[in-house]
Amino acid sequence: MTGQLFTAPVYSKEVYMDPIYNFQNKVALVVGASSGIGAATARAFAMSGASVMLADVNEEAVIQLVRELVSEGFTASGHACDVTDEAQVAAIVTRTVEIYGRLDFAYNNAGVQAPASDFADLSAEDYDRVTSINQRGVWACMKHELQQMRAQGYGAIVNCASVGGLVGNPELAPYNGTKHGVLGLTKGAALEYAARGIRINAVCPGTINTPMVSAMMETQKEAMDDIMIRQVINRLGEPEEVAAAVLWLCSPGASFVVGIGLPVDGGFTAN
Ligand code: NAI
Repeated sequence: MTGQLFTAPVYSKEVYMDPIYNFQNKVALVVGASSGIGAATARAFAMSGASVMLADVNEEAVIQLVRELVSEGFTASGHACDVTDEAQVAAIVTRTVEIYGRLDFAYNNAGVQAPASDFADLSAEDYDRVTSINQRGVWACMKHELQQMRAQGYGAIVNCASVGGLVGNPELAPYNGTKHGVLGLTKGAALEYAARGIRINAVCPGTINTPMVSAMMETQKEAMDDIMIRQVINRLGEPEEVAAAVLWLCSPGASFVVGIGLPVDGGFTAN
């Protein structure tokens, strides 16, 4: 998509955080926080004044990011967490509350791609892996976050779906299934908890400039070219642009927004 005449600008990270939310005295948990969109969202919460718990299966990377944030003067802690293990998910929520006393916001971001494959050829192991992380993992996160938020009587949860949760992509149907599932979990739970002070929504990113997409650009070039043609803004999204949407959904500015899957997709789903 480079070299075309009209390409929307990419701004500096600070611009995506303007307006800066005032999340002083708030506590945010980001699951899947060591890379890409999750790392940008953890940083955005920290920049807004929140205390942030970062959880990720990649312990080394998450601890490294926490060190960076703390050295920059932010309040952050980190912990290993594999979302396929419900006990580890429960422990991360418990740890967050032990350290910071409450849980205002949770962003459930952990996700992986399945290998691109003709539907008839994907192995059950690959199907189970993508489902256990992307869908069952979000279920486990929501379950334990909601136990805390239900007891508190407040909170906001944002789940990471995808435009692949709104439409299908050839050779990626199992991923599509998980992300459609995330939207189902979001809507059903949102209806249960809206009147109890807890708002639950999702973001549906388009194609974003992260390590996951770099890998797909190399291994699935034709499919990615097709996707990029439909992303009419004519560039990749930046992780900070998704983070900005997550923070807005958590903010009082979104107080009447319940159970949506917000496309952050450069026009992909407007086609
Ligand atoms: P990424 O690969 O940079 O980040 C994914 C994060 O999830 C990593 O930190 C990884 O360690 C973590 N993770 C993976 N398995 C985990 C597990 N079992 N338990 C805990 N953490 C685990 O990828 P990216 O692109 O930032 O993706 C973040 C989310 O956004 C994913 O849910 C992805 O499906 C979704 N998404 C990404 C898009 C993109 O274009 N990059 C488009 C639409 C959705």
